[in-house]
Amino acid sequence: MKAIAAVDKNWGIGKDGKLLAHLPGDLKYFRENTLGKVLIMGRKTLESLPGGKALPGRTTIVLSGDENYEPKAAEGARTLLATSFDELMAMLLSMEFAEGIDLEEDVMVCGGESVYKQFFPYCNEILITKIDEKFSADKYFENLDELAISGMLKITYESEVQEDNGIKYKFVKYSR
Ligand SMILES: NC(=O)c1ccc[n+]([C@@H]2O[C@H](COP(=O)([O-])OP(=O)(O)OC[C@H]3O[C@@H](n4cnc5c(N)ncnc54)[C@H](OP(=O)(O)O)[C@@H]3O)[C@@H](O)[C@H]2O)c1
Repeated sequence: MKAIAAVDKNWGIGKDGKLLAHLPGDLKYFRENTLGKVLIMGRKTLESLPGGKALPGRTTIVLSGDENYEPKAAEGARTLLATSFDELMAMLLSMEFAEGIDLEEDVMVCGGESVYKQFFPYCNEILITKIDEKFSADKYFENLDELAISGMLKITYESEVQEDNGIKYKFVKYSR
């Protein structure tokens, strides 16, 4: 599977249940890289999306410990609930069998912090939007540059610098 996240210079990803910055170019990049795929996200991240609804054109597996939780979905979105890590992994295996999804290419881990932590060991590629700012944050992603320096990951792609609303950022891909 793959992970996708936007981080600031301190590898912060969120504050008070929200993203750190509004970057239209990054939202477009997220859409391009997740359309048609199976997304994994925590209940809090789902509830931070517009209207608290799963995104159209994608299957979203939402993790919540509440077995009665009903994830909201936008029109054209498919949602599934998993109440544990093991249940989610079993769901992916049955989707591989029944729907032919490719576990390596078609599954995107979309946060938040708790979900990135649990699934990071299973991600072979990580798509990071590196925002060239330091924000105040309360949720973080692992510092992948430190893992790259230690040889555990390698950087396979780095885009030109982008800019939205006066904020500079670039897209970087890391692989195991
Ligand atoms: N920058 C980015 O790219 C990015 C991407 C995504 C999110 N974010 C940010 O990250 C923050 C949210 O992160 P977070 O860590 O607070 O929340 P989260 O990971 O989105 O959701 C946490 C919730 O997921 C459920 N959960 C997680 N693991 C589970 C498991 N193994 N079994 C059952 N349920 C499980 C639990 O739900 P219940 O409480 O219902 O049991 C838990 O409270 C927000 O600020 C958001 O904006 C940033």
